[in-house]
Amino acid sequence: MESKITPHEINGKKETTITSERKLAHLQICLEHDVQGRNITTGLEDISFVHHATTDLNMEDIDLSIELFGKKLQFPLVISGMTGGHAFAQQLNDYLSQVAEKTQIGMGVGSQRAALEDTQARESFEIVKRNAPTALKIGNIGAGQIVEGLSAVDLKDIVSMIDADALAFHFNPLQESIQPEGDTNLQDLMDKVSKLINASSIPILAKEVGSGFSKFDIVRIKKAGFTGIDIQGAGGTSWAGVESIRAEDPKYKNTGEVFWDWGLPTAISTILAKEQFNGHIIGSGGVRNGLEVAKLLALGADAAGMAIPFLFAIQENSIEKSIKFLEEVTYQIRLACFLTGSQTINDLRTVPLIISGKTAELLRAFGINPGEYSSRQN
Ligand SMILES: Cc1cc2nc3c(=O)[nH]c(=O)nc-3n(C[C@H](O)[C@H](O)[C@H](O)COP(=O)(O)O)c2cc1C
Repeated sequence: MESKITPHEINGKKETTITSERKLAHLQICLEHDVQGRNITTGLEDISFVHHATTDLNMEDIDLSIELFGKKLQFPLVISGMTGGHAFAQQLNDYLSQVAEKTQIGMGVGSQRAALEDTQARESFEIVKRNAPTALKIGNIGAGQIVEGLSAVDLKDIVSMIDADALAFHFNPLQESIQPEGDTNLQDLMDKVSKLINASSIPILAKEVGSGFSKFDIVRIKKAGFTGIDIQGAGGTSWAGVESIRAEDPKYKNTGEVFWDWGLPTAISTILAKEQFNGHIIGSGGVRNGLEVAKLLALGADAAGMAIPFLFAIQENSIEKSIKFLEEVTYQIRLACFLTGSQTINDLRTVPLIISGKTAELLRAFGINPGEYSSRQN
């Protein structure tokens, strides 16, 4: 399993739809360009734990397992949805789903739109249910397809394609606005969303792609009946950035540059969600190591999600590299627990946190007192 894979190698196979061609271009851009936030960060650098020098735990006994959408995860981590619909995506989904099953973490797939448009694209998703029968699997479809009239039958199809335990509706109005072909008519979106949620047999999450959710959004997400939120805040991969690089028309190219850093930082959006939402929260967007995962859990997330780190790990050295990366990340989560006296992830959720800098300033602007986090007991 030591083969290095690149989109170019598989690119020889003809992509059959505009959707799958666009998805392939996204992958190439993410692998070949720096598309991370420029002057915006996740805010996680402003969150500090309080060190316990007299910790009296056995590090090895710390339990990192959690339950999410009815599945047990060995570690509180989900591979954020990225791929599907073309030959390269099939290979990535093949590898990623093997990693998820072996390590018992969660896995999201990328938008399943391509498979609704072209039956040939189905295999790139169906491989996930064969490789990962027991791991948590999260399906994915965009707000644009919902407005265009996604039906309850389509929804059922999307779920059964990967045997999904939960389904993410992704909201990406910024990204769509930087595409000439983007879905920018989102009229009646939330009414349609709410009807589909009522028709769904599995939990539905609201997912962003790198700009996070505001207080306004979270109220609407609650009202629509979502069971979970996958934050995907700003500070990580910028989809305005990716689309700006892909664009040929200067209007879109320049607008992508101008809006490169648009959005709510991951730490802020996670805190806003925790303050107002009782369902599951996945803290995500720019998460790059286990300490950042631990910080998001302490801020109230049930699990954390990462996209681009897995893309690089899987591309560089396939399964083995991804598992090594995961071992590192989980060791860092374990260490954060050890050094804060947390025997379980639930314990970690209540430890005191110091929130400083711009994140503290922004929280105050949203009417939240950052001092409440430092006075927590553990
Ligand atoms: C190559 C690639 C393709 C993606 N495709 C999708 C997608 O189809 N649907 C979706 O909801 N998010 C998609 N995303 C967004 C990620 O799930 C995630 O929200 C975003 O990249 C921010 O996370 P990160 O900073 O860890 O990369 C994609 C991300 C990458 C890197």
